[in-house]
Amino acid sequence: MGRLAGKATFITGAAAGIGRESALLFAAEGAAVAVVDRDGDGAADVVAEITEAGGTAVGLTADVAVETSVAAAISDAEEAFGRLDVVFNNAGIMLAADGDAQSTEEAVWDLTMDVNLKGVWFGCRHGIPALRRAGGGSIINTASFVALVGAATPQLAYTASKGGVLAMTRELAVTHAREDIRVNALCPGPLRTELLMSYLDTEEMRQRRLVHVPMGRFGEAVEIAAAALFLASDDSSYVTGTDFSVDGGLTAAYVTPE
Ligand SMILES: NC(=O)c1ccc[n+]([C@@H]2O[C@H](COP(=O)([O-])OP(=O)(O)OC[C@H]3O[C@@H](n4cnc5c(N)ncnc54)[C@H](O)[C@@H]3O)[C@@H](O)[C@H]2O)c1
Repeated sequence: MGRLAGKATFITGAAAGIGRESALLFAAEGAAVAVVDRDGDGAADVVAEITEAGGTAVGLTADVAVETSVAAAISDAEEAFGRLDVVFNNAGIMLAADGDAQSTEEAVWDLTMDVNLKGVWFGCRHGIPALRRAGGGSIINTASFVALVGAATPQLAYTASKGGVLAMTRELAVTHAREDIRVNALCPGPLRTELLMSYLDTEEMRQRRLVHVPMGRFGEAVEIAAAALFLASDDSSYVTGTDFSVDGGLTAAYVTPE
């Protein structure tokens, strides 16, 4: 019996990185998985991988920044599996043009907020009624370590959007606690995924970031998926409203070891 046996799950940004690894892990642990991404072909590849391994998955193309798109995806997933127990609002972007207060263009700010913050709100807005219909459930929102400490490389829109995710998560956790709907945030440290490696695109920038990580290495998407599995499963039945850091010690460090 897997740790998610009998659970129907919904993961956004599931064609790549953390979302992809979570989809594969959740399915291996017995969950039915709605693999949701704006990249429909990428989502279909993940679905194929899951079904070839004997798991259950559907692929759904959706843009989390568009409310009708999120509403349709939630309803399609609920219809496909007959229920929804877990909503993992994980899709996010970090734009190369995101900078400091002066250099960040308004359009960059708006797009980042639309995907990273409004997208999580839409997932909660339409996910909560579905979880309620199932008698409760778990929502996981992907924030970031930059919601807790200022980043060495400025990315103001991204940082502000993730701070919003944390605040929203805490309030939703309190609002829905008596309905058995748990709401937690994940705060990954810097990971070796496409999102960060294309942003830190020189060896110098990568080393500059690693100075802050006591473990001295980037994390792997699968290490975040393992934390998401805990928050999705009944193992975390008394956990709600947390900002769960999975960051190689980054937020605990003042000076890191040589
Ligand atoms: N990589 C890191 O170092 C890091 C650190 C902390 C937090 N995070 C957060 O983790 C989450 C996942 O990041 P990742 O590193 O796996 O990224 P990734 O770029 O590897 O994958 C992100 C996925 O989200 C999808 N996506 C992007 N915008 C979307 C939209 N509007 N609608 C639907 N799907 C969309 C992309 O197509 C892609 O498949 C993000 O919220 C990111 O901010 C990442």
